[in-house]
Amino acid sequence: MMNLEVKNFPGKGDALIYFIAKEKLKNDAKLKQLDALTKGALSQKIKLHLFEAGADEMVSIEMVSPYKHIVLYGLGKTSSVTQATLRNAVANAVRFSETLRASSATFFYQEEFKHIPLFDLGKSLGIGASMGNYHFDKFKGKETLKKAHRLSHICIYIEKAIPKELQEGLAFGELIAKGMQTASNLVNEPASHIHPIELAELATKIADSSKEKISVQILEKAECKKLGMGAFLGVAQGSIQDPKFILLKYSPTTHDKRLKAKKICLVGKSITFDSGGLSLKPPGSMEDMKTDMTGGATVLGIFQVLATNPFSPHEVWGVLPACENMVSGGSMRPGDIVTALNGKTIEVLNTDAEGRLALADAVSYAEKYIKPDIMIDIATLTGACMVALGKDISGIFGNDKSFIKQFLEIAKIEGEEMWELPLYKPYAKFLKSDIADLKNIANAGGGGAITAALFIAEFVNKTKWLHIDIAGPSFRDKPSNGVVVKGGNGVGVASIINLLKNSKPYNP
Ligand code: BES
Ligand code: MN
Ligand code: ZN
Repeated sequence: MMNLEVKNFPGKGDALIYFIAKEKLKNDAKLKQLDALTKGALSQKIKLHLFEAGADEMVSIEMVSPYKHIVLYGLGKTSSVTQATLRNAVANAVRFSETLRASSATFFYQEEFKHIPLFDLGKSLGIGASMGNYHFDKFKGKETLKKAHRLSHICIYIEKAIPKELQEGLAFGELIAKGMQTASNLVNEPASHIHPIELAELATKIADSSKEKISVQILEKAECKKLGMGAFLGVAQGSIQDPKFILLKYSPTTHDKRLKAKKICLVGKSITFDSGGLSLKPPGSMEDMKTDMTGGATVLGIFQVLATNPFSPHEVWGVLPACENMVSGGSMRPGDIVTALNGKTIEVLNTDAEGRLALADAVSYAEKYIKPDIMIDIATLTGACMVALGKDISGIFGNDKSFIKQFLEIAKIEGEEMWELPLYKPYAKFLKSDIADLKNIANAGGGGAITAALFIAEFVNKTKWLHIDIAGPSFRDKPSNGVVVKGGNGVGVASIINLLKNSKPYNP
């Protein structure tokens, strides 16, 4: 457990992290003091390493007292410092302090942050510090962990009285990071440990901890059948694990009766393992398929934050169609036809295009029974999205230009890489089947992320809808960078929380 706090005295952190902007490097009073503490060794090191305080440049020096290490961390120009760059810098600095085997780190509050509102600043520091300190250790034994080193204390040092907004922002940032970490843990845990039932249990636990702000309902296989979820159940039928259709509802504490809150529905793809089914994946493509429930993990992470802090003025729904896509004598066969909850028939030509089948019923359920004003689905939907945008970037589709624009602006503030891809209607004809209403793969000669989005659009009515294809960012295979940690990383949690918090309720 890591302890994170703001203090107005410097404390004795093992590592002092000093952020510095490029234009201040030559003439910063505090840096001169630090240099004097090291008897000039710090400025020598700066010279030797050609340190210019460019963005994410680092130089460190060992000493004895009052700190064991001073780490100078470059911010680039002050004008380039944003919430997103700052939270990444904090996370990187924490990770670096860990390699120094520091147990505690102290950050100095800097003038360079002044243009960021205090709450947002605190939030960024909270997310950065917490994610910099994230490790997935659950399956590591004592022997394996012996040489691992962890920070137990991080302190933000501010020379004046501690502003309330900074303190509140820090706590909220820490909470968001907890949501991101819950999501990351779920993604990192293998399919031997996370089945649909574990997702249902966690949803129940979250609701139980929410002081009745969140209610949960788990639809079992028989109820799904009664409701006509043939597409979702088709995916589930090859597995011995029972499917769970998980519903969460958060009711806001309405402060102003004149404001009618929006109903926002979050749908998360929750395939706890995707073998491809009878259209079996080759081994290399199957290796990471425990991650195919990342969308659902993101939604659970967000609800965990809502359970602790009822920050949203809106009614928020979570829908997780959770099942496994497996191979057995009972599996769906290529060519089978299933009927979705909205009555549309689907010819399943490829059982590996299962995400869209599960989502078809989840989206149809939301349209029929929840009737939201806004619907966002988040899904590890297509390898094609990764081909288009690479591993770092999520693809965004939607039926409302201004909502897409609003969400992309939010994602930018939160430092999440998302780019719009077109919901290009002429490709919809490739989803027509010869013998059913739709088929689940399109021979469009490419554009697989687009045709998958168009498939889901077939189940959306007039609702404002956004589709986030997170196939790339769901699982980072390169080393951690800033708040984006290796493996599961909580993609989407911060941006969607920002939307739920800051998008205005309307007055009808
Ligand atoms: N879960 C996969 C998509 C995926 C691939 C996510 C790689 C993360 C990393 C999805 O169910 C899938 O298999 N999609 C197929 C669709 C195809 C059969 C039309 C794909 O992308 O190959
Ligand atoms: Mn698949
Ligand atoms: Zn899948």
